[in-house]
Amino acid sequence: MSYQKEIMELSERYVMRTYGRLPLALVRGEGTYVWDADGNKYLDFVAGIAVNSLGHCHPKVVAAVQKQAGILMHCSNLYYIEPQARLARLLVENSACDRVFFCNSGAEANEAAIKLARKYAKAQLGDDCKYEIITALNSFHGRTLAAITATGQPKYQKGFEPLLAGFKYVPFNDLKALEEAVDDRTCAVMLEPLQGEGGVNVASEAYLQGVRALCDRHNLLLILDEVQCGLGRTGKLFAYEHYGIEPDIITLAKALGGGFPIGAMLAKERVAAAFSPGDHATTFGGNPLACAAGLAVVETLLQDGLPDNAVRVGRYFKERLEALLPRYEFAQEVRGKGLMLGMQLRIPGASIERRCRERGLLINCVGGNVLRFVPPLVITEAEVDRALEILEAVLSEESEGK
Ligand SMILES: Cc1ncc(COP(=O)(O)O)c(C=O)c1O
Repeated sequence: MSYQKEIMELSERYVMRTYGRLPLALVRGEGTYVWDADGNKYLDFVAGIAVNSLGHCHPKVVAAVQKQAGILMHCSNLYYIEPQARLARLLVENSACDRVFFCNSGAEANEAAIKLARKYAKAQLGDDCKYEIITALNSFHGRTLAAITATGQPKYQKGFEPLLAGFKYVPFNDLKALEEAVDDRTCAVMLEPLQGEGGVNVASEAYLQGVRALCDRHNLLLILDEVQCGLGRTGKLFAYEHYGIEPDIITLAKALGGGFPIGAMLAKERVAAAFSPGDHATTFGGNPLACAAGLAVVETLLQDGLPDNAVRVGRYFKERLEALLPRYEFAQEVRGKGLMLGMQLRIPGASIERRCRERGLLINCVGGNVLRFVPPLVITEAEVDRALEILEAVLSEESEGK
């Protein structure tokens, strides 16, 4: 039996079946490439779903993790933690927020944001009835109970009812619908500036600016979930920077640790002040090892100008994808910003994903028919050319009905 098959069988036998897995066991990564257990090499345009933004095993992240592992891997948040304090400062100095709460995932960052918004409404406004949060249809905010409730897609909620009270959903990019949904109970609006799992849908400038103004008028908090689109992927360190607005709360995870699990919730001072010691906590949140990884990631992102690379290579990639549209009638639209791009198809995308994989290109498909491309931000135009060579061959096969 091959090494790869062995890993798959072991997993099938012992791991809980929560993931629909593809028949591939990845065992090594370097830059924009990964290798499976049988030694096959793949160009990685999935990057752990927007996690490995610096590419796999970036030397600075590897060195930071190795060094910190030999100094202090973990200590409780009962004590002050140096890498945590440094990473918080770096995030604050480069964002519109003033304070950071660290956790371990995107769902947890959103969970923290939901708790903070409720506490703020109670603490600052003295209002027990103001707890409702409005989110968007097709959003994705994670898999904890609060996060699936915030997620405006019934398929993630089914079977887990009763859901949490206090959420309402409106169509994305529809300011009027949001205006109509706001009432006396609303305390916050929570949105992804660029929806990832929902199909790579970009918020329009007028929409997000209108949402900000609406939140200001009604004294609502604006929570932006930048778990997937944040940290340079769209061409700015934070996606909200494209819109000339500032959120009250930002959530991050995915790319923050370069592959090491870490999440963060950032907030403006007046909002953060609603949390007092004891209000929220997690054992591992902001632990020395995770924050050493996070520091290396964010410093490298900034020093190496990776958001600019996302703009430059992203533009090239998007233009080349758009050039494919007239050639394949089942290819409908290309959407996205920077290096978070999607190609909407008129047909299911699963077989295209599979055939790309078989030819050595990893991409993924969201919502059944949107091909999603979230490669490492260190990607070059030559690597985009290579990916497109494979994608074009597969799309041609598809159009010839092969
Ligand atoms: C926008 C967004 N928010 C939250 C999450 C949940 O993050 P995690 O899987 O780390 O809990 C995701 C994950 O895909 C996401 O894309």
